[in-house]
Amino acid sequence: MTIAKNIEAILTKSSWIRKMFEEGTRLKALHGADKVYDFSLGNPNLEPPDRFQQALKDAVNASAPGSHGYMPNSGYPHVCEAVAAYLSGEQKIRITGKEVIMTCGAAGALNVILKTILDPGDEVITPAPYFVEYNFYVSNHGGALKTVLTRPDFTLDCNAIRAAITANTKAVLINSPNNPTGQIYSRESLAELGALLREQSKKSGRTLYLLSDEPYRKIVYDGAAVPSIFSFYPDSIVASSYSKDISVPGERIGFIAVSPDASAKNELMAGMALANRILGFVSAPALMQRVIAVVQGISVDVSIYARKRDLLCEGLWACGYEFTKPSGAFYLFPKTPDPDDVKFVRALQEELILAVPGSGFGGPGHFRIAYCVDDSTIRNAMPGFRKVMEKFRE
Ligand SMILES: Cc1ncc(COP(=O)(O)O)c(C=O)c1O
Repeated sequence: MTIAKNIEAILTKSSWIRKMFEEGTRLKALHGADKVYDFSLGNPNLEPPDRFQQALKDAVNASAPGSHGYMPNSGYPHVCEAVAAYLSGEQKIRITGKEVIMTCGAAGALNVILKTILDPGDEVITPAPYFVEYNFYVSNHGGALKTVLTRPDFTLDCNAIRAAITANTKAVLINSPNNPTGQIYSRESLAELGALLREQSKKSGRTLYLLSDEPYRKIVYDGAAVPSIFSFYPDSIVASSYSKDISVPGERIGFIAVSPDASAKNELMAGMALANRILGFVSAPALMQRVIAVVQGISVDVSIYARKRDLLCEGLWACGYEFTKPSGAFYLFPKTPDPDDVKFVRALQEELILAVPGSGFGGPGHFRIAYCVDDSTIRNAMPGFRKVMEKFRE
């Protein structure tokens, strides 16, 4: 054995998204890229906004001596301040730069948080369907991910969360707008969750954290808004990034924001600054931090994703697919007409349509379509979606 058993096991099982990516590469080489309808990856297909591009050029031109050196592990203080000032408006609570840590994307943020709060054997509860990488992030730091089902329309089921809490629970991790369902958790359900966590923390005498993974916060439709968790529970932490809303996932820039009311805020911030360093990130990329500081609040034109969502939903409805229309993110999670979602996804593949089985997200009997693709991909895939639906209805 040349590599760790744990990594070998993950490689062997391989994530569905990776499998689809490999299958896509094979099919595109065989049939031509325009003949393969690839809905497997959440890689934004819009270019970053002009303001980002300009700020990037300005930051490169303004490069002064010392611009490329080490910095505090939490990030440049002026960048943390700029992010905090924006978040104070967004999250409707006064946040300072001392409550912000710049990270290598939302994935980096989550790993830093989990490294800081988990002891071996601690459990993290997450509502399913969920972003499958959470399994790896939690196990990276000795914890165990415990999933609880949401309701059939993918709204939060706080009774299920209550039933899953044990003496080992350390955190509840939510993601809204959600990958893969596009669901936004309501104010009422977050208030209920906050009350539950208060009650359980008091009862057990240990702090339960509420972690909110929010990289899709700005990608919302029909006037929807994502409520702030800070107003519902003091021991809460936001992990986020600019990967999806300004289309820069390759640049690895994101942040952590801790509620100003968190009970062990100073220890948390010190622990997370250390975790950022010792996980090997050291700090978030310097150039990107300087760019992000001056473009707070921008996003790609979300109406383009709204158009793609509508195009896809109308097309699939007409073919007889059943789903909850998503209010955010750029994923649709329809029911499969056969309980075996892997079989269904394989049938789609025969029509050169690549999607991911819901089982890969803890949502069997469904499949995920990432619609951050060209409109023509959505339009041209419709006959294939129809054919497969008809085949399963026979
Ligand atoms: C729910 C969710 N969380 C975190 C991430 C990781 O984001 P980032 O690329 O900013 O690390 C993703 C990426 O797809 C995601 O969908």
